[in-house]
Amino acid sequence: MITAGPTREYIDPVRFISNPSTGKMGYALAEEAKKRGAEVILISGPTQISPPNRVKAVFVNSAIQMNKQVNKYFPQADIIIGASAVSDFRPVKKQKLKIKKNSKSKFVINLTKNPDILAGLGKKKHNKIIVGFALETDNIEKNALRKLAKKNLDLIVVNNATQEGAGFATDTNIVTVFDKNGNKTALSKMSKTKLAVKIFDIVRRI
Ligand code: C5P
Repeated sequence: MITAGPTREYIDPVRFISNPSTGKMGYALAEEAKKRGAEVILISGPTQISPPNRVKAVFVNSAIQMNKQVNKYFPQADIIIGASAVSDFRPVKKQKLKIKKNSKSKFVINLTKNPDILAGLGKKKHNKIIVGFALETDNIEKNALRKLAKKNLDLIVVNNATQEGAGFATDTNIVTVFDKNGNKTALSKMSKTKLAVKIFDIVRRI
């Protein structure tokens, strides 16, 4: 099971909080898993790209919806890769009608924390392999290792958002992979398609 893309947290019927995730990394992982003979369930936020052929794709908008679908399919999965960019917060309340401009020069939206989907799966891990992604701008290794432990992951793939050709909305990525046994693999800049191959090579060695 692979999660991909952003989530949308609606403020009113026509406005939402989101991020520039394209879903490319998650879709590339889904394609590679399929090539290797896996049965693939792709849980995807809204994207502009088509899911690979012969992959079961489930589309969601919000983090709450993604959490529900991911937990539904969890028992069937052997390997779970969280490549989605989940919004950390959502509006406390979605307004039923479009919010109108008013005379006030400030407008406040109250936000509440979304569930950490991967951490939730980590709590009921059993013998499943769980892989997370992280986007960091500072203290890369320290933050990555903290997330690996906190979410009970087997592997974390970290991209340094300050490097050119890494992170959101690019066709390439530059990552370092840390596993729970203390191994570290720094990979050079490569396409997300090629990176998907490398990630599954590392997953096989766990
Ligand atoms: O904590 P952080 O957002 O940096 O962690 C990133 C990893 O956790 C990614 O694999 C992402 O898909 C996952 N995540 C999640 N639910 C959240 C936030 C992040 O599953 N609410």
